Amino acid sequence: MSSDIFMKNASPTKEKTAAKTKGKNGLENPKENPERNLEENLKDTFLDQTLRPSRFEEYIGQTAIKNNLKILLQAAKERDHPPEHILFYGPAGLGKTTLAHLIAKEMNTQMKVTSGPAIEKVGDLASVITNLNAGDILFIDEIHRLNRAVEEVLYPAMESGVLDIIIGKGPSARTIQLELPPFTLIAATTRIAMLSSPLRSRFSGGVFRLEFYSEEEIEKIVARSAKILEAEIDKGAAKEIAKRSRFTPRTANYLLKRARDFAQVKRTALTEQIVENALDLLGVDSMGLMPSDRHLLISIAEKFQGGPVGLNTLSAALSEEESTIEEVHEPYLIRLGFLERTSRGRVITEKACKHLGVATPASLSEKLF
Ligand code: ADE
Repeated sequence: MSSDIFMKNASPTKEKTAAKTKGKNGLENPKENPERNLEENLKDTFLDQTLRPSRFEEYIGQTAIKNNLKILLQAAKERDHPPEHILFYGPAGLGKTTLAHLIAKEMNTQMKVTSGPAIEKVGDLASVITNLNAGDILFIDEIHRLNRAVEEVLYPAMESGVLDIIIGKGPSARTIQLELPPFTLIAATTRIAMLSSPLRSRFSGGVFRLEFYSEEEIEKIVARSAKILEAEIDKGAAKEIAKRSRFTPRTANYLLKRARDFAQVKRTALTEQIVENALDLLGVDSMGLMPSDRHLLISIAEKFQGGPVGLNTLSAALSEEESTIEEVHEPYLIRLGFLERTSRGRVITEKACKHLGVATPASLSEKLF
């Protein structure tokens, strides 16, 4: 990685202003900076959007997906036609929504954003979809939460560009068919298995699985975000954040912001040691496990003798939603090799027990022989 990624990048005028109020950490104390205006403070409120890449060239990682999308988009542009419908799936925080925004930007078109749970009735979908302009993108997040009645109306809309609406009830009911402008549906889900196969098959532009990032990619993302936040961060500190980021950009940016807060309040530089202190305070351990992950694993080890334990039993024992366990905790724990999903339930691994410093349950040791 080129070292200039780790250097501050501010316009000369900004640099001058900032120099007056910055300590050795390169971070401003907001209160001491009279020139920090409301607009800048508001920008901080919506930091996650500020950190989002706005061009494909800025988007780090997911190389295979980017390369496929580039071809799809260029071909669509050359034919002067909207790209075909696209589905992104994979764990939360990996950049599905960001990719949708980048596609809209690349196609120079508007994107209307909604989500599965927000479209409760067929009428909700009809109102969103009939308000699209030719070439627009409709982004539906959490598409696995669309109900079946809405899904059935979506099929012909995706396939033939028509909306079949039933008006009235009983014998007097009739169907009207509305022609839709050509549009692209981009959908995202963390739960591909919950999508019906007819819906999945209608994403004719491609179904793309986002992968966890490598530590090096996350390091680059942290360095880029630090630059945008105008926070000086050394290489060791960026590496430490990457190590504990669950290979997930959203988590990495969250940890960076919390470490920046810590350094600011302690009036110190954003060094590896400060990152370690800040993340220890948050309870994020050296492998990126949060207190809730550890609680989950320790419960399986100690309350359920290592498992297998069913998802609903685990959910009741932890007072945690099944969907949170499945979508937030499990993908990373499985990726680490700390948890296994078997047909009889969840099982903790020996590797997890070692990391947590808990005794390996007898049932696991027996399985080894
Ligand atoms: N911020 C969040 N995700 C990112 C990515 N994939 N590349 C660059 N910056 C990001």
